[in-house]
Amino acid sequence: MSPRVHSTRQKMKTNKKIVIAHRGASGYLPEHTMEAKAMAFAMNPDFIEQDLVLSKDNIPVVIHDIYLDDVTDVATKFTVKKRKDNRYYVIDFTFEELQTLRVSERFNPKTSEQFYKNRFPKGKGNFKLHSFEQEIELIQGLNKSTGKNIGIYPEIKDPEFHKKEGKDLTKIILKTLADYGYKNKQDNCILQCFDAKELERIRVELKSELFLVQLMEFPEEVKNLQHFATYANGIGPWYKQLLDKKVDDKFTFTSLVAGAHKLGLKVHPYTFRADALDEFSSFEEMMQTLLIDASVDGAFTDFPDLVVEFLN
Ligand code: G3P
Ligand code: CA
Repeated sequence: MSPRVHSTRQKMKTNKKIVIAHRGASGYLPEHTMEAKAMAFAMNPDFIEQDLVLSKDNIPVVIHDIYLDDVTDVATKFTVKKRKDNRYYVIDFTFEELQTLRVSERFNPKTSEQFYKNRFPKGKGNFKLHSFEQEIELIQGLNKSTGKNIGIYPEIKDPEFHKKEGKDLTKIILKTLADYGYKNKQDNCILQCFDAKELERIRVELKSELFLVQLMEFPEEVKNLQHFATYANGIGPWYKQLLDKKVDDKFTFTSLVAGAHKLGLKVHPYTFRADALDEFSSFEEMMQTLLIDASVDGAFTDFPDLVVEFLN
């Protein structure tokens, strides 16, 4: 496959609230399938997300976890490859082997129960895994054929695990990105990682000029904002990190967004799910509270159509 960069590739939009199709249109089709990505593209988000893990033969594969057994039928096909912890690892399979698996709506491998009950039925359809290159070619190809300008938002998954397995996932991803024309901040790509040391390495040691987003998970990480701002351009917090107590039935907010903005960091919280509302009484309330009242700069969502419509 020879990388081809769309010659009229447009630059990244930075001054509006952005919609990131989280694992594609994953509220409607099994996450990270090409079908979910094509459907997301048609919904006009600003970015489509790719979680990335390496195969045994060093191909970056688009899948949420280092494991295979909660989104594929691997347990019925490759019993010999099960590790001692009873899990199946992407890294133990060649890309050719991975392509023999059927991808399904997410489920609990212990109970076989579907995770989100009202989504696409588990085990139905004929979905496959695909490589990062294949997905970039889909998105760049659709950008060309539709005249749109939808970006990519790749995540480097568990770099420490890859290192222990003798692989440098980050270097392989940066090379793929460069091959397809994503090299600096203006290019339509945002690179994200939970591992702060690795994201800093990307900027400092590997000298990447890409737009970098530091993912966050825990409230105490707020104290690291200043350091994040030395190498990142934005943060991707869990949306609950933004919420403080409810006063007179109205949400109040932590200092995270204001603190990030003061340091020039964009804020893209995850994950907006219309079928997992938790403290909100409706998806509308979730979008109004976080996107407008909390003043974030974008959102990861399994339902890109609803967030695009809301923002429009
Ligand atoms: O990358 C943003 C969001 O996707 C982080 O959570 O676990 O869905 O990758 P996760
Ligand atoms: Ca992700």
